[in-house]
Amino acid sequence: MTLNDSSVQSLRQIFPALRKITNGQPAAFFDGPAGTQVPQMVIDAIGDYLINHNANHDGLFETSVQSDQMLATAHQAAADLVGASDPETVSFGSNMTTLTLALSRSISQTWNPGDEIVLSRLEHDANFTPWVLAARDRGVSVKMIDVDPTDCTLRLEQYREKITDRTRLVAVGCASNAVGTINPVESICEMAREVGAISFLDAVHYAPHASMDVQRWDCDFLVCSAYKFFGPHIGIMYGKRNQLESLQPYKLRTAPETIPGRWMTGTQNHECIAGTLAAIDYLASIAQLASGEQATEQTADQHQINNRRLRLESSMRMIRQYEQSLLIHLMEGLRRLPEIKVWGITDPASFDQRLPTLSITHPRHTPKAIAKQLAEDGIYVWHGNYYALPLTESIGVEPDGMVRIGLCHYNTLTEVDRLLKSLSRL
Ligand SMILES: Cc1ncc(COP(=O)(O)O)c(C=O)c1O
Repeated sequence: MTLNDSSVQSLRQIFPALRKITNGQPAAFFDGPAGTQVPQMVIDAIGDYLINHNANHDGLFETSVQSDQMLATAHQAAADLVGASDPETVSFGSNMTTLTLALSRSISQTWNPGDEIVLSRLEHDANFTPWVLAARDRGVSVKMIDVDPTDCTLRLEQYREKITDRTRLVAVGCASNAVGTINPVESICEMAREVGAISFLDAVHYAPHASMDVQRWDCDFLVCSAYKFFGPHIGIMYGKRNQLESLQPYKLRTAPETIPGRWMTGTQNHECIAGTLAAIDYLASIAQLASGEQATEQTADQHQINNRRLRLESSMRMIRQYEQSLLIHLMEGLRRLPEIKVWGITDPASFDQRLPTLSITHPRHTPKAIAKQLAEDGIYVWHGNYYALPLTESIGVEPDGMVRIGLCHYNTLTEVDRLLKSLSRL
């Protein structure tokens, strides 16, 4: 089974937001990197939770017991999504930024003056500033991995130089939310492990496009956000059991000492956790849904749920293949518009090292003006730095930034053609 124009049309039927008409034209959502639209099953799961099961957890009455059952299933689903074998190693929280700020506070308690951490300039600020602030508080120095401005890839050779026996943490994104570059996180985590440093992966941008695999990558921590992978606004954090058990979270006395509860501060957003479970099951059911089948009974089937990880891997392969075909089409079209500069990897031979997220600039039109024209044509893109400030500063595009075109699996060739046509009128 592959995704193509017709199977994607079937999937699009499940997303009510994709029916939106804007300025008399169907809205083309190329703003996925800032947040994706959600399928009906996510909306239904949130509504169903609030109508039928809404309760705090750990009670003995029906709705509370049902809430706890849903939470246990959601932890398993999130573990399947990130590739973890143990559902207790996955926590939920407000969003990636809040989870990272909290974790950085705990991890940095183990640092001493003279220690070092290694960050990269390809990051969203949420995988940068929390660590810089923690380092400042603990008298720790920050080593930076630079970006090659010609193709916006990391200068990987610098890791060998900058990771030393003084390194306590290496934080890096799985992929850039601005230019789509995929980083070789498995080897970066290995280098961190060799010197006993903690590895922390930001998979927020990667999650909707390809399969995450914390066991293969062997990272200590990984964070992502459900609203980027067709779910509601909530964050997810994976950590190795030994790290989650030995680090001290900032938590209330009344919160459990066991994982995952010790990392999930306060009352959780149960309805969004229910929605996240539905989003993961949507992803796991892509092959079935794309062929026009209903997901209902079958997705709940125990056998299917047991296979969720395998089905997710196969869905993400289908998504990646389809998105690559859209990317190739878009890049070919952009090559016919020579005034437009595409930041990041543009050589098709290296497209396996990038996601279908690209940023463009124009010598005569500001990113804001371009985004405005596209908006008038019903095409949704983001302009500015999209919080990838370490990158935009290092490639010198501040203060205006760039225009980001973010493709995802519900986009179509027709939408890409509309985008190219609108850009050709600049
Ligand atoms: C790569 C990346 N990391 C981190 C974040 C922050 O995630 P959140 O909004 O869940 O805090 C974003 C959000 O855009 C992102 O794209």
